[in-house]
Amino acid sequence: MTDAFPSGPETCELSPAAAKVEPTAIVIFGATGDLTRRKIVPALYQLSRQGRLPDGCAIFGYARRPKRDDEFRADLLAALEEVPHIRPVSREAWEKLAARIYYVQGDLDDPSGYARLRDRLAAAPEAVHFGERVLFYLATAPGFFGTVAEQIARAGLAPKASGPGPRRLIVEKPFGEDLASARELSRALHRSFPEETLFRIDHYLGKETVQNLLYFRFGNSIYEPLWNRRYIDHVQITVAERLGVENRGEYYDATGAARDMLQNHLFQLLCLVAMEPPASLEAGAIHDEKVKVLRSIPTPASSELLACSVRAQYGADETGAHPVHAYLQEPRVKPDSLTETYVAWRLDVDNWRWSGVPFYLRTGKALAQQFTEIDIFFRPPPSVLFAAVCGMRLGRNCLRIRIQPNEGIHLLFNAKIPGLPVIQRASMHFHYREDFARYLPEAYERLLVDALTGESTLFTRHDEVEHAWRLVDALRAAWSEEKRGELPTYKPGSMGPAEAEELLARDGRRWQPFQYD
Ligand code: BG6
Repeated sequence: MTDAFPSGPETCELSPAAAKVEPTAIVIFGATGDLTRRKIVPALYQLSRQGRLPDGCAIFGYARRPKRDDEFRADLLAALEEVPHIRPVSREAWEKLAARIYYVQGDLDDPSGYARLRDRLAAAPEAVHFGERVLFYLATAPGFFGTVAEQIARAGLAPKASGPGPRRLIVEKPFGEDLASARELSRALHRSFPEETLFRIDHYLGKETVQNLLYFRFGNSIYEPLWNRRYIDHVQITVAERLGVENRGEYYDATGAARDMLQNHLFQLLCLVAMEPPASLEAGAIHDEKVKVLRSIPTPASSELLACSVRAQYGADETGAHPVHAYLQEPRVKPDSLTETYVAWRLDVDNWRWSGVPFYLRTGKALAQQFTEIDIFFRPPPSVLFAAVCGMRLGRNCLRIRIQPNEGIHLLFNAKIPGLPVIQRASMHFHYREDFARYLPEAYERLLVDALTGESTLFTRHDEVEHAWRLVDALRAAWSEEKRGELPTYKPGSMGPAEAEELLARDGRRWQPFQYD
């Protein structure tokens, strides 16, 4: 019998109802801050323009400075004009959104401000549509998260009963600064907002290419049989940034690369690469699998942690080719700071699938290239044929998943050069830009829609966050026991310190060089 549909449907919509947003009041705390201007309002503008934010939605900015609604709207418009993927702003689309943006002045710890907010919510023309539905967005400094949640509750604006409901809270990262503070923060938030109403942001999860990791792994049959210790030699995860700390010296110096990037973005990528197939696509099932991955990463002893990690700071660029100061000369960075701007870590995921397969993670600022990539290296073929002749020159098969920029997936394999008895690396390419010639939504657009619809898959659950802190805390404790007077440096515009190359060289491997496929 022949198969009438040998190749199946071309497209398959997973959950057509999932993206239906109900009219909601969106309240942004920290409304005059950078995040609101650079990410949240641009995302709301795009959603409104695409018709995905119903007319009954209204936006309330809450911040300390006195401002009228029209001044607030003008500030947001000016900021929007600066956002590269939005410029030029469509006047018509902006005015449609601006008409439902309001400003409420108040201190974050002042109950009278929250009373004003409650009155404005009730008096807004859109209130007949959004009714009880409110999405609070904590875009403030993290030190205020607990206070704001408490004040919201005191003003009678928190969810009325336990369980999911129409009052939700988005919390920006960083979620705590270590395991103890993350637990304490969850406890503080849970007093007013049950876990089902909390949406902890890790914006990497909103990136299309990151979401695709699940679809790619479990929507195809050809990779999954190979996705284990029998066929995979090791995995590299790189988040490289070209810029330095810019104007965030104060925050960054108190934080460092391990807490700013590794604890959240890199661990989330690791989980999506390493997790088992979930029982379903429901949020809980996916979170459970991610937590299992993190639980399988043992907390190594300090001596082992020091041997399998590298930390460094960017130094001065004598050539003037890279546009940064030495880290220690950056504004609002302590001159004797030991904060790392680069971290590399070799991790073991000690479970049935991954035992013996090292995961190498690295991230740094002021590097040569700006890219995020996952490289899956496969084991070499048996050395009976070509490898006997080519030795180590026989390149390993590698699946390169480029998260950003030039988003795509590339398979690197060996092929014969025509006319010569020589083997050379060849590749097969998939580019989002070419295969899906359509707009790649910004992470915050997707995350806002999901929080508005109560879909929590792309947010982090408390136990994921806690396990990631357990590991980062152990790493940082080992570093602090080391009592170094200064950190190794690397040249801005390089790919990091020599120690990071040695970390892999000791295992007979090397970091995959950047290639603009
Ligand atoms: C943030 C970090 O979470 O992610 C920043 O605080 C970093 O330091 C940024 O620059 C990187 O995000 P993206 O989306 O530009 O890769």
